[in-house]
Amino acid sequence: MADRHDTPRPLWGGRMEGGLDPAMVPLNDSLAVDHRLWAYDVRGSRAWAGALTEAGVLTPDEGRRLDEGLERLARRFTEDGGPPVGGGDEDIHSLVERLLRDEVGELAGKLHTGRSRNDQVATDLRLWGMDACDRARAHVRDLVTALTEWADGSLDLFLPGFTHLQQGQPVRAAHWVLSHAWPLVRDADRFAVVRREASVLPLGSGAIAGCPFPVDRDALARTLGFERVSENSIDAVADRDWAAAFAFAGALLGVHLSRLGEDLVLFASREFGYVRLSDGFSTGSSLMPQKRNPDVAELTRGRSARLSGALVHVLTLLKGLPTGYNRDLQEDKPALFAVHDTLGVVLPALTGAVRGARFVPERLEAALDPALYATDLADLLVGAGVPFREAHEVVAGLVRRAEETGRTLAELPDEVLAEAHPALGEVGRAVFSPDRSTEARSSTGGTARARVEEQLERLRAWIGDTP
Ligand code: ARG
Repeated sequence: MADRHDTPRPLWGGRMEGGLDPAMVPLNDSLAVDHRLWAYDVRGSRAWAGALTEAGVLTPDEGRRLDEGLERLARRFTEDGGPPVGGGDEDIHSLVERLLRDEVGELAGKLHTGRSRNDQVATDLRLWGMDACDRARAHVRDLVTALTEWADGSLDLFLPGFTHLQQGQPVRAAHWVLSHAWPLVRDADRFAVVRREASVLPLGSGAIAGCPFPVDRDALARTLGFERVSENSIDAVADRDWAAAFAFAGALLGVHLSRLGEDLVLFASREFGYVRLSDGFSTGSSLMPQKRNPDVAELTRGRSARLSGALVHVLTLLKGLPTGYNRDLQEDKPALFAVHDTLGVVLPALTGAVRGARFVPERLEAALDPALYATDLADLLVGAGVPFREAHEVVAGLVRRAEETGRTLAELPDEVLAEAHPALGEVGRAVFSPDRSTEARSSTGGTARARVEEQLERLRAWIGDTP
């Protein structure tokens, strides 16, 4: 291969004597990363050729030939393997322009009139970002759907609700499942907001000061599917706020996926045993024949590190940049692409794992410690007119008494309960029921069956409304 720095001539070649120092080339080049923007670069270029033609900068014939050349070029990218690359093109913009020369000859040199790679790359990346938000949202919706279905099948199973990872009060298994669905709903909605933020056209800002030709930026925005045009050309070439918002949406989603992963790891362990993951999402051990590892959940937890890392990457990149475009901004793409690719791998896997996950009813039943009903006993006393603080103390005394005598709360004799308070003697064993306990918690958002069914309804409506 020829020295990369000799051929082809870079877009700014006229300014410098000789090529780039070989040591500079790998730092300078971004084609390996930004190659995936080719379709957006071609789309943006076709729209730009159209705008220059409308503005009278290009003749209608030149505009048509450029457009057709770009269209043929797009087809070359979709063909097997795509066009040959690696001849020293620094980035996707250089590559597209060089290849366009093969299609339309010297006319290719007119496409860049009034445009800079600064407004070009900002445009390409926003177009990509809008699609990336749509894809992230669809992946999240699929996971919410899987969780909703799992919850629908586990309305009448109960597990201990945990605080401080100590058993607190019984909850419906479906209620726990849906506690992981709602954060994801917020994530998907957040990606819709980020998409709107990305939907601003920078093209027409030039390198920094704007465009000297009378291009109709509103028409350009409509052609490219942007909702608005940027208001200030200096801001437009430097603004990556939407990218930071995208990275944040990914990072917070990563936190939620990681928490779900952690719960699944715990619940699939022998100690809990509440959940069994299907074979397709578990692995064995090369050494220990009995092992059945919840790798899907561990890898989800682990991969989310890339998502929080990407957020730190973008924020660190932007902090302290002086006014206008700075080459540092080339480094935004690896982080954004990492968010997109990580979500594209983690979400389908986790969705599949949730679809195959089953509760183990015997283990759930065995896990419910009678102490879970201590609050229900106190609530009973409240019903009999006892102030809650006092009721709390009476029941705490019973819990202590049970512990001291090596029994569970449910094994305390009726007389002991009645002695603590007459109201407790009357209800007897009935209080030690997950069904009774959960049905009592019927406030909106509570774990009573009807309330959980309402959640399911709302989630189904949300799924139906989410593209
Ligand atoms: N590859 C560059 C980027 O991603 C394109 C813009 C280059 N602009 C420039 N003035 N060198 O930001």
